[in-house]
Amino acid sequence: MVRQAAQALRERIGSRPGVHVVLGSGLGSVADGVEDQVVVPFAELPGFPRPTVEGHAGRFVAGRIAGAPVLVQQGRFHYYEGWDAGIVGLPVRTGHALGARTLVLTNAAGGIRRDLAPGSLMLIDDHLHLGFRAPLAGPVREREARFPDMSRPYDPELLALAESAALEAGVPLSRGVYAMVLGPSFETPAEVRALRAAGADAVGMSTTPEVVVARALGQRVLGISMISNWAAGLGDGALDHEDVMAWADAAGRTLAPMLKALLAQNPDGRARSG
Ligand code: HPA
Repeated sequence: MVRQAAQALRERIGSRPGVHVVLGSGLGSVADGVEDQVVVPFAELPGFPRPTVEGHAGRFVAGRIAGAPVLVQQGRFHYYEGWDAGIVGLPVRTGHALGARTLVLTNAAGGIRRDLAPGSLMLIDDHLHLGFRAPLAGPVREREARFPDMSRPYDPELLALAESAALEAGVPLSRGVYAMVLGPSFETPAEVRALRAAGADAVGMSTTPEVVVARALGQRVLGISMISNWAAGLGDGALDHEDVMAWADAAGRTLAPMLKALLAQNPDGRARSG
């Protein structure tokens, strides 16, 4: 499945992206900054289902950001939609098969730590995978480690590069721990207190399965959370997907210049073509 999808994508985009960027809910605007765009909807790739979530376009936008060949992914597959591990990990494996050695994952997340107000960005420096489903369950796949090391899931060099890129772009950025829960219901206040006690700074419903797959493939990973709301019980009022998307979009507007500054530093370590 991965091989056919990668082959189909390669034929369409005609470049070899070194960096694969996954955009979370409401962050689609970042794709507007891709130059020389080739757009490929998931529906045109063998084995790719259509995402079911509002705010997730379900397509790849290949092209260049700051001169670097990139594969930008709008929309992803979540466990809460009922997809299995094979589908949740499919886009990452496809990006890897195309040549991406660096994976940048973004998401919308609820802020748990008091300084993580809606609209802020958090670099993920570690995570809690509380999905209670193993993204690598099943037979070991080609080119993947059976027991990948997870002691440094987020690449220290990329973290440092992202921090200097944020400084350059004038974007405030802090580090923290992202907790993944299955969803799709938001948490209860008691669950948020439990997550805080467990060491989480932000909470969301994606990303960690993709990180696990990427690490099994040996990719370098950077993770960024757009804080779209106070986690349940910390703000006033109920949580709502529309609000989450609006705040994620606001945070996403600061992501675009930062990403550009980051890619200008050529984080995939390869010579650029063209
Ligand atoms: N909880 C879980 N997932 C989320 C949240 C949240 O508060 N905000 C955005 N995604």
